[in-house]
Amino acid sequence: MVTSELIQKLADGKFHSGESLAEELGISRTAIWKQIQKISELWDLKIHAVKGKGYQLAQPLDLLDEQLIQQELNPDVQQQIDHLEIHTVLDSTNSHLMEKIISGSFETRVCLTEQQTKGKGRRGRQWFSPFAGNIYLSISRRLERPPYQLAGLSLAMGVAVTETLHSFGFKQIGLKWPNDLVTDQGKVGGLLLQMSGENEGPSNVVAGIGINVRMPSTATQQIDQPWTDLQSQGAAPSRSKLASRLINAMVDGMSLYEKQGLEPFLNTWRKLDYYHGREVVLLRGDERITGISTGIAEDGSLLLETANGIERFHGGEISLRAR
Ligand code: BTN
Repeated sequence: MVTSELIQKLADGKFHSGESLAEELGISRTAIWKQIQKISELWDLKIHAVKGKGYQLAQPLDLLDEQLIQQELNPDVQQQIDHLEIHTVLDSTNSHLMEKIISGSFETRVCLTEQQTKGKGRRGRQWFSPFAGNIYLSISRRLERPPYQLAGLSLAMGVAVTETLHSFGFKQIGLKWPNDLVTDQGKVGGLLLQMSGENEGPSNVVAGIGINVRMPSTATQQIDQPWTDLQSQGAAPSRSKLASRLINAMVDGMSLYEKQGLEPFLNTWRKLDYYHGREVVLLRGDERITGISTGIAEDGSLLLETANGIERFHGGEISLRAR
């Protein structure tokens, strides 16, 4: 795809002459000019065109770099991955991997993309996924457990991802049940798990993570809740490095969960619990339940202290109670 090749060349933020680009990509200078217009519109990028110098991106881009990603993978994790795919544009990394499963391919796949056109959030929401700023990553894997034993996997993945972000210095990030990554300024990431399988197992799982690394300021018009990104929480790390470390942690986390379930993750989840001891409202369908969040039970369900005592909840969405 010419647009992908062209953006790779321009990503360094330096000037590239129309002539050299035309030669490298094997197309005419007029075709390069047309592609530049297309890129600029498609991804909302400012590109300077200066006579005698060529084309230059107004801001360099930190594009995903397959070599760097491979380099940073732990050798045992690398061995477990059958396919690592890096796309420029996809509808959704989760949908892409679910399609592979539906078509009968059960290998371990890692899929990243620079942009999603139909990024999926929990509870049927959209996940705003602009070009080349954030992480959109999904991992598919066959686990030797029946689907009903995987209810806690999303919490385990939340622990794996949050610990990875802490290792980059973002210690202020916590978990909002079941698996939102949050700070005082708002949500910085979220997980979406999808699965299929026979009642008695094995199961095919797709674990998708979205992390806001560098969101454009226009995102506020697209996102219906308070949000933040790593750039405003400190400094944005290299997206490729972050992607590798997330892959390491998620693949290891899946293996541990396959062997031991949620138990080894429980203590860390409880330490990362952002709403512990706070008054919250749980929305479950049309129901609104108010209580003090007292953490999670062994099976990952939410514990709320309500007027009826400590109650367990398996689904729904919590938010802080407005005062
Ligand atoms: C949430 O609503 O909090 C879950 C967001 C999950 C977003 C990620 S981005 C990569 C993967 N592909 C998707 O379509 N969704 C997940």
